[in-house]
Amino acid sequence: MTQKKYVLALDEGTSSARAILFDKAGQIVSIAQREFRQIYPNPGWVEHDPIEIWNVQLSAAREALTQADARPEEISAIGIANQRETCVVWDRATGLPIHNALVWQDRRTAGDCDELKANGMGPYVRETTGLVIDAYFSGTKIAWILDNVEGARERAERGELAAGTIDSWLIWNLTEGKAHVTDYSNASRTMLYNIFNASWDDKLLAAVRVPREVLPQVRNSSEVYGLSAGKFFDGVEIPVASAVGDQQGALFGQSCFQPGMVKCTYGTGCSLLMNTGARPMPSRNNLLTTVAWGLDGKLEYALEGLIFTCGSVVQWLRDELKLIHLSSETELAARQVTDTNGVYFVPAFTGLSAPYWDQYARGALLGVTRGTNRNHIIRAALESMAYQVKDVIDCMEADSGIALSDLNVDGGAVSNNFVMQFQADLLGVPVTRPKVIDTTARGAAFLAGLATGFWADKADLTSAFTLDRKFTPAMGRAEADKRYAGWSRAVQRSRDWEQ
Ligand code: G3P
Repeated sequence: MTQKKYVLALDEGTSSARAILFDKAGQIVSIAQREFRQIYPNPGWVEHDPIEIWNVQLSAAREALTQADARPEEISAIGIANQRETCVVWDRATGLPIHNALVWQDRRTAGDCDELKANGMGPYVRETTGLVIDAYFSGTKIAWILDNVEGARERAERGELAAGTIDSWLIWNLTEGKAHVTDYSNASRTMLYNIFNASWDDKLLAAVRVPREVLPQVRNSSEVYGLSAGKFFDGVEIPVASAVGDQQGALFGQSCFQPGMVKCTYGTGCSLLMNTGARPMPSRNNLLTTVAWGLDGKLEYALEGLIFTCGSVVQWLRDELKLIHLSSETELAARQVTDTNGVYFVPAFTGLSAPYWDQYARGALLGVTRGTNRNHIIRAALESMAYQVKDVIDCMEADSGIALSDLNVDGGAVSNNFVMQFQADLLGVPVTRPKVIDTTARGAAFLAGLATGFWADKADLTSAFTLDRKFTPAMGRAEADKRYAGWSRAVQRSRDWEQ
């Protein structure tokens, strides 16, 4: 038998599909990436073409093998991490989608969500799913497709249609329709799944109007769901062995296996997840309670805080204010000054998300004087990332009763050493940056490799984890608290702006 040398992770994100090959040491061997179209049929609507996603994902997967000169028989498993709430409805007989995928950013079902709220469903949704009623989640999107494609609802009720998040869609295609499954973490983002007793919830299915017949079977995040059809990889059938929502994948990829461990991904926005172990922790501070992953039928949970605007402040400095040419210039600029000279920048471009949830807040630049210069503004913009992260961490600590011991970071903006150091200063705990910052794919790979025995257990994974740099707090607590108090005042000024 050919020796298994690799695990192939498919990281299907919002703007691109990536395929990354990992070796036994947990290191990246090759990366292939393909972008796909963002379709905006109406203001607030965002769609993807599911066939295009499948095609680009498959071609990225093949390219990752070619780049590494890897033979399909050397691949132990395929793992999938996906943009989470984006959903597809397809015909079980033909395998063809009946509509484009509705992307997590799509707001077309906001009115349906308002109706659910008016019908008093809010507390029930929170108590069963851990979520707040919002168009962000998949449930109302599936219902919208069934209501807006002719005959779809009747066909769904007859069992002729299948629905699922992108993991389901990719697994269906890889196995040529043999498996219609999802994992616990993705199910927990539908607003239809009871995360406390691990089942689709009848009352929610009725309220959101999604027939049970369309839904996938919910499985472990690490388990062989089926084999990829021979035609995709030179006649070799590879076990498809993990599915996980991308943010949860990053939590796993960061080896955050113990309760209290937190990962923070600094992307366009920012996503923080705290592992809370076997206990789903209800939030009293406007965070979401969600499934981290399910292993061997046992669910582990997380608290989640989402920040709408994070790394995109740097793009704004570059593209709109034209204060910089390249994102990388911000670090040098911020270091030209010892502080912001009292300036705070609240990047509430689209309102404020966790923990404020104020859709009427707007961006604010406060404390500007005649002495304020370009570097102060750039520095204030960078610091706003760290302040927002602290807002969420404080809530996580309050909800869980666990004090943060360190922060595990990933995502594009972590290459900015200034931001990382300021984050450590502000939180008063070390910030640890791994060598492999593609932690989402790494999580999917780890989960898949565990299912096929490529890695023996979690200890194997932790030892495969290598640190790039640890940022230790250098600022005094009193100074950090003083600066944070200024931020809190600035946030208050930015709130309730748009009427
Ligand atoms: O909840 C949506 C999120 O999972 C999408 O992540 O990295 O594709 O923007 P990303």
